[in-house]
Amino acid sequence: MKLWGGRFKKAENKLMEDFNSSLGFDKTLYYEDIQGSKAHVKMLAKCGILTQEECESITGGLNSILSDIENDVLHIEGDYEDIHSFVEMNLIERIGQVGKKLHTSRSRNDQVAVDLRLYAKKKAFEVIEDIDALRDVIVKVGEENNFLMPGYTHLQRAQVVTFKHHIMAYHNMLSRDKKRVENAIEIMDESPLGCCALAGTTYNIDRSFTAKELGFKKPVDNFLDGVSDRDYVIELLSCFSIMMMHLSRLSEELILWSSKEFDFILIDDEFSTGSSIMPQKKNPDAAELIRGKTGRVYGSLMALLTTMKGIPLAYNKDMQEDKEQFFNSLDTVLSCLKIMRGMLSSIKIKKENTFNAVKKGFLNATEAADYLVNKGMAFRDAHKVIGEIVLYCEEKDKAIEDISLEELKNFSDLFEHDVYEFIDYENTLSRGIKTELK
Ligand code: ARG
Repeated sequence: MKLWGGRFKKAENKLMEDFNSSLGFDKTLYYEDIQGSKAHVKMLAKCGILTQEECESITGGLNSILSDIENDVLHIEGDYEDIHSFVEMNLIERIGQVGKKLHTSRSRNDQVAVDLRLYAKKKAFEVIEDIDALRDVIVKVGEENNFLMPGYTHLQRAQVVTFKHHIMAYHNMLSRDKKRVENAIEIMDESPLGCCALAGTTYNIDRSFTAKELGFKKPVDNFLDGVSDRDYVIELLSCFSIMMMHLSRLSEELILWSSKEFDFILIDDEFSTGSSIMPQKKNPDAAELIRGKTGRVYGSLMALLTTMKGIPLAYNKDMQEDKEQFFNSLDTVLSCLKIMRGMLSSIKIKKENTFNAVKKGFLNATEAADYLVNKGMAFRDAHKVIGEIVLYCEEKDKAIEDISLEELKNFSDLFEHDVYEFIDYENTLSRGIKTELK
């Protein structure tokens, strides 16, 4: 069933019809399509292009379609070309000839553009809500676990930090992710409705009215750009890709920490899975899936950038490819944010193990060098002296704080008893800018 056909002599090939149809996925846009149409007819009546009765009849028909879809009475299926055809043909079926007036001064090109912008805006706000909820959990887990743990560079134990400071790094990343999405919303907040096919219309319509009605800041400035701009989809996919990169890094750390090799955390049974052959196994599948699904979001970004790169102005059917990639990424991002939130709020930190790792890692070596510097030694010389002490400790299987003052004095006579207090792990965190680590 089609909205066109007058100039055709032959019916469309069945293969072509299936190839062209987007109903299977653009049905997701049913709400926005009806919302856009209602704003459009309201504007047509206000501008005297439709009568008030026509407007009321069309609006009533659209409302009944919407409520039937939402109450599962009307199913979005059949051989319609897309959601726009589905809604319009159902409207005509319900209210008769007057339904054919809905598409006055409109093209499916500005129709799909406004539908998708409305949807993208709505879903972007949903993503922000889920980012915020995850940020809250990170703060809570951090506050509850302000324990010492090794900080790493090159995945080698480097200096002492706290679990709180470590996990709060992700809070900072997610705060930037949120700003990026907010910025994308701000940029996309213009209405393309009224651009029509590509060149506007001869009717005296009011684009500012529909823009306001639909909650946009203003109508777009340029008709050709308005119908063929998909930057906002690409921009959101780009924000999502950066965010998934962050979630993937966090997942990687949770996977490492839950291994027996680290043994820093316990992921709750609720967010773990077992093995069909190895009875002892408990696997961090939630974190692995988030890490893995990052690939499909990057893939969508690349797919859309590539689809758009060679398209001449204005609308071309290539753009229909935007939806599946975008919808899939949205689902992925929303579920990953929720799963990460659940998993993170259920983890237990093994405080003794993180502390033992601190003790075994010479994580006060830098501070020991700072001690000598405070006593007058040049940092480069202090670095060498402490390096020799670390070598000595390794042979004795001891931490720096575990060897005697006499032994320390063999390396430098600047050492006094106060060194032990100076290199105490908790104390190191109480000095200078390091207090921020707490
Ligand atoms: N299904 C189309 C899309 O997603 C809708 C716009 C169709 N426009 C057209 N001139 N055929 O892009």
